[in-house]
Amino acid sequence: MLINLEKHPEIIKKNAERCKEKGITLPTFKQMKNPALIPDSVKENLKKAGLWDVNPVNLYRINWHNEPKEAGGLYNDVNFIEIPREITGTKARVLALAGKWFPCGVHKVGATYACLAPALVTGNFDAVEQQAVWPSTGNYCRGGAYNSALLGCKSIAILPEDMSQERFNWLKTVAGEIIATPGCESNVKEIFDKCHELDAERGKHIVIFNQFEQFENYLWHYEITGSAIIEVLEKLGVKAENVKGYASSTGSGGTLAAGDHLKDVYPNIKIGAGEALQCPTLLRNGFGGHRIEGIGDKHVPWIHNVKNTDMILAIDDQDCMNIYRLFNEPAGIEYLKSIGIKDEDIENLQLFGISGIGNMLSAIKMAKYYEMEEDDVVFTILTDSSVMYKSRLLELDEQLGPFNFTEAAKVHAASLLHQGIDNALELTYYERLRVHNLKYYTWVEQQGKTYDELNRQWYDRDYWKSIPRMLDEIDKLIEEFNKIITG
Ligand SMILES: Cc1ncc(COP(=O)(O)O)c(C=O)c1O
Repeated sequence: MLINLEKHPEIIKKNAERCKEKGITLPTFKQMKNPALIPDSVKENLKKAGLWDVNPVNLYRINWHNEPKEAGGLYNDVNFIEIPREITGTKARVLALAGKWFPCGVHKVGATYACLAPALVTGNFDAVEQQAVWPSTGNYCRGGAYNSALLGCKSIAILPEDMSQERFNWLKTVAGEIIATPGCESNVKEIFDKCHELDAERGKHIVIFNQFEQFENYLWHYEITGSAIIEVLEKLGVKAENVKGYASSTGSGGTLAAGDHLKDVYPNIKIGAGEALQCPTLLRNGFGGHRIEGIGDKHVPWIHNVKNTDMILAIDDQDCMNIYRLFNEPAGIEYLKSIGIKDEDIENLQLFGISGIGNMLSAIKMAKYYEMEEDDVVFTILTDSSVMYKSRLLELDEQLGPFNFTEAAKVHAASLLHQGIDNALELTYYERLRVHNLKYYTWVEQQGKTYDELNRQWYDRDYWKSIPRMLDEIDKLIEEFNKIITG
């Protein structure tokens, strides 16, 4: 079993008592997928809670259906946008789920919940005695620290020291401990080293929830992100033959797993994995530092189903930073209005964080590569939102000088309309195998995975399919746990 569901009854009892004391029950996957199943009593409490409040009722906001409100919101249709063609420069429609409306403003709060909940309800994590460790290059440790706080357990957030100031400032308000590791975005090896160090020092007092290897992360995105996209496509009445692409960068490879669900439903869809051109690990076995916070970490995550990936899209981080300025600087907004971008689309620009911009660029490259037509759709994900990176605007001003109207026109032309199909690689069978083989160096040589399991990821046809089959069992365990709490 790729997800550990072995039960430890004494710890389950202890965890349930802790939840009872704090008035906590846990949402199931079914409820995250379809919030109509959430009881009215929870909805009454949601009306009184802010989106970012450290209030356990916000566990029931871990889904893509939240009303876009800072406080008191319930549920609506899936939060998504269609990015106007004046911005994408593509014939095809580029659609994107919007992560801003998750509690604490990031979609990774879902994957962290998916890692924590099964461990809690099986007793593989002791919420009273142990600390939850969240190693991350981006929002995963934010979501992890937040969920730990909601559940009243202690947490340790590990992230590289060069991450944005906003992240550190906010983490200080929720995480028990924050550990900054050397380097930037792509220094994941240093994070793994820190985890091993903590393990040696604190042993059974901690549980490390490593997003890069935990299939719960894969499962959450497969089921919840994947289903949200399918719901949008069905509501819009997009014909199956027009569902052409899914583009998502790989940080941990979790978000990419939504593509596996889409391919089960739309077998002709192409799945594109994005990374930073400055750290072209998938594209060229390469390495390097870059500024797309949250993605591309000089290794292939254990939970990336490489055999199902059709294309690699390497995105220049300077394009992302330029577009971030275009979407957020007053001169950029003025320029976009002057070329006829509608007010509601201008309003939506706040939904793009830096990796969301990278994802949009991956979608654009895919649409152009496959020469998609007007009716064709490529889907992507806005993982968080602009509010997470405002300090970067000041840094960019200092480095590059103020952003003006002329600069805005240049960025629009060069980084968006002229985005080409360079650094996009359609994968042959053996190119996929080349990428898969890279896992050996990180996971077998360094991180204790077996050669046999690595081979099963490639050769065993049931390996990846077995993960979604665990959903019912996990939901059953969550329901049983809730029953112990509610009596
Ligand atoms: C800002 C941001 N974008 C993208 C990602 C990548 O998502 P995933 O880890 O699911 O691949 C992350 C991951 O934490 C992130 O923080």
